[in-house]
Amino acid sequence: MPELIPVLTEEEIHKKVEFLAQQISHDYDGRQLVLIGVLKGAFIFLADLARKLTVPVEIDFIWASSYRAGDTSCGEVTLSCGMNTDIRGKDVLLVEDILDTGKTIVNILPALEKMGPASVKVCAFIDKKERREVECRTDYIGHSVVSGFLVGFGLDCSGKYRNLPAIYDLKF
Ligand code: IMP
Ligand code: MG
Repeated sequence: MPELIPVLTEEEIHKKVEFLAQQISHDYDGRQLVLIGVLKGAFIFLADLARKLTVPVEIDFIWASSYRAGDTSCGEVTLSCGMNTDIRGKDVLLVEDILDTGKTIVNILPALEKMGPASVKVCAFIDKKERREVECRTDYIGHSVVSGFLVGFGLDCSGKYRNLPAIYDLKF
């Protein structure tokens, strides 16, 4: 059985989400925001973040998968855009569970830019910045880690553990 080493408790996660929401609400004060969550991992973070924002938001999702199985990235990102929100002229915040190599974000951003938004920024709950392989923008980060494969709070390993309310490092 793999071991789950605690990384962030539920309470620590909520404080970090609250802090991010305050920053974002401050930066977009008087404006409207379209939150675009990257499925599947961002669904829990987005739900928590959206409820703490004080600016009006619209919400949509984009599908991206780069991990075919287990914890090894295949490096190729598959995108599927089922969005039906018109983002032309609007401020967009792309919401991601975790930034690793950066390839997912780097693949999604041009697809969003083509839809003519006024601006696009990136918010990720976890940043593994030492593992970055491509340069990508990171505007709002909840927590940085150096290594490990994390699960919980939306993060999965082969589809499991997403529902854990805290975040753990999965050790095999
Ligand atoms: P990137 O394209 O390499 O930046 O990877 C981003 C995606 O890989 C994330 O949206 C996650 O779905 C997945 N991922 C990367 N690191 C982890 C991890 O530690 N746990 C779970 N999923 C991860
Ligand atoms: Mg993801």
